[in-house]
Amino acid sequence: MVQPATAHEHVTVSQTDGVLEIRIQRPERKNALTHGMYDALTRALVTADTDPAVRVALITGTEDCFTAGNDMVEFLKDPPKGDDSPVMRFLAQLLAQEKPLVAAVNGPAVGVGTTLLFHCDLVYCARSARLQMPFVSLGLCPEAGASMLLPMIMGHPRAAELLMLSETFSGEEAVALGIANAVYEDGDYLAEARKQALRLAAQPPASVRLTKAFLRGPTRDAVAAHMKLEGDTFLERLSSPEAREAMTAFMEKRKPDFSRFS
Ligand code: COA
Repeated sequence: MVQPATAHEHVTVSQTDGVLEIRIQRPERKNALTHGMYDALTRALVTADTDPAVRVALITGTEDCFTAGNDMVEFLKDPPKGDDSPVMRFLAQLLAQEKPLVAAVNGPAVGVGTTLLFHCDLVYCARSARLQMPFVSLGLCPEAGASMLLPMIMGHPRAAELLMLSETFSGEEAVALGIANAVYEDGDYLAEARKQALRLAAQPPASVRLTKAFLRGPTRDAVAAHMKLEGDTFLERLSSPEAREAMTAFMEKRKPDFSRFS
């Protein structure tokens, strides 16, 4: 059973005028996400959808970072296993979310820090935002439906560049690629995202939910099936020698060496 939203050491939740603000707060680890943090994020999303006082959820990070994605130490020592793992439940909830989701992104947004944005409705970036999906560089594969949604949004060549070369891109590029709405100065992006969330919260709520359902509806089942395929493969890849080399190299602060793999 899903627990009600409760504050977590690294995921805080606050509510103002119909907007549930979810903050990822683990700055000493660049807001890297642990199992417990995924669970807290899922609870917050469920609360947003089930609490009648909430009309919009806004997800953001801390002063210099959105999130560095999955915690690499957990990937090595306690990797997620199966559909019931916290990360998979979080991704399933993102896809199922009925009320609108707004994201305010600054600094690094790595891995799931970028792919979760494809499931948000409005995405606002700071000038400092640096997005990246380094799944291939980590010996893994895309997740959260990225390998289906990206080519749909931007075409195969650009999607292949971002995924296969794991290229880092800015908020301006994210807007040009069609995955973010606007870029603001670092001092302004959160206030602008809050302003838009409040505007959404003032709209007729049932009409907003219906419109989200219609926007997402035509692709939802196919995205869910593709996410499941990616997710199963991703979890298998976590124990592959390529991924072990990549993640160990990150923790040891050295360049990975993939020369022995065929
Ligand atoms: N998991 C666990 N720890 C992480 C982490 C992650 N995903 N990302 C950063 N950290 C830790 C670093 O190991 C470092 O720890 P230390 O202080 O003990 O050395 C600390 O957070 C600060 O990170 P650092 O790399 O020094 O900051 P930076 O500003 O130079 O770079 C990032 C920030 C996010 C670009 C860089 O940390 C990074 O690439 N992280 C990995 C992202 C990633 O591949 N995520 C997984 C996607 S599936």
